[in-house]
Amino acid sequence: MSIPLLDLQAQYSTIKDEINDAVLEVIESQHFIMGSFVKEFEKEVAEYCEADFAFGCASGSDALLLALMAIDLQPGDYVITSPFTFFATAGAIQRLGGIPIFIDIEHNSFNLDPKRLRDFLEGNDELFRRVKPDIKKIKAIIPVHLYGQMADMEPITELAREFDLKIIEDAAQSIGSKYKGVKAGNLGDFGCFSFFPSKNLGAFGDAGLITVKNEELADKVNILRLHGARPKYYHKLVGINSRLDAIQAAVLSVKLKYLDSWSDRRREIALLYNELFESEGLVEKEPIECSYSCSSRGGGDCDLFDNKIILPEETTGALSKDGRHIYHQYTIRTSNREKVVSALNAENIGSSIYYPVPLHIQECFSDLKYSAQDCPVSMCVSNQSLSLPIYPELNKDQIKKIVKTISKALK
Ligand SMILES: Cc1ncc(COP(=O)(O)O)c(C=O)c1O
Repeated sequence: MSIPLLDLQAQYSTIKDEINDAVLEVIESQHFIMGSFVKEFEKEVAEYCEADFAFGCASGSDALLLALMAIDLQPGDYVITSPFTFFATAGAIQRLGGIPIFIDIEHNSFNLDPKRLRDFLEGNDELFRRVKPDIKKIKAIIPVHLYGQMADMEPITELAREFDLKIIEDAAQSIGSKYKGVKAGNLGDFGCFSFFPSKNLGAFGDAGLITVKNEELADKVNILRLHGARPKYYHKLVGINSRLDAIQAAVLSVKLKYLDSWSDRRREIALLYNELFESEGLVEKEPIECSYSCSSRGGGDCDLFDNKIILPEETTGALSKDGRHIYHQYTIRTSNREKVVSALNAENIGSSIYYPVPLHIQECFSDLKYSAQDCPVSMCVSNQSLSLPIYPELNKDQIKKIVKTISKALK
């Protein structure tokens, strides 16, 4: 039996009639741009996210761009973010002429490390001395809630208050995640969500959403996505064309009803993986905090923990009362990744590396002059992380087969 990394056909087959009816309804209405399907979905998703304001847009990447446009990010302004994320997080900053500052992640949550963030903002670390930012030009922090688990938002919001910075949550992978009872997108000034088809709530193409806390900024986002016009053809701002398509809105309205049960099932699967890996005796118990040494860009050595794996951990927010990890990805760490991947490939089992090259050493950011060593944990994790199949329809036999295959490769 082959097991794909993600099986969207399996999901579609469970809701096919509902989805087909919803899409047909849009086609019959011939209202493809904005209109009632989009409005209805925006209302439902705002309620789901417990957000004051929610606006559909063309993608998660555009949601990030719109948030930065709404705070009037100027060329030469700085925005702090994680280097261990999808490119779009930092791409949005650079597209507006901003300068990303990459602060390293925690080894167990894979999210922005608040301690390193404080050291940087207080000017107490090597990176600050090298970047020498004009502190007044640091405008925002983009914490990324990677793999479905929120960043440690309490100390991050404290720092944002202290240094007068906006918070733009990159919640592209975390719709419905909670940190101490608060849903993703609600702890910052903005929440940016992606409905890329592979996400927990996936559209039938590109789609995204931005949630906003402040009414004035919400109004600005609302017109920025529509070429900055209000009314039509009267342009208050230079905006962009970034609307949520009506067909996508109709698909998402159907899927939203199932989202919580799908995310709960993902967590069940994650716990089952953990249990099976434990019973195979494969789990590394020593905390491996990720040290990384290198002499040149990219190449280097990480901590090794031969023939064992490190399980994904639920950390501060997810572990708290009313916290929630939605397991967009189930990501293990292994220092024998090549061996594991070839064993999985031989059995036709999908896996993927999110992300093989951290952003601080990407070629397109080379003018920022980061060295690999500036973010050692990200380097180490990008050498060791491996995401395994996770989707609600994955069954116990398939999970057992994946665990056995990895076990055989490592023993
Ligand atoms: C962390 C993160 N940020 C931003 C994005 C961009 O979202 P989209 O692909 O919808 O533009 C993604 C999704 O791919 C993501 O995973």
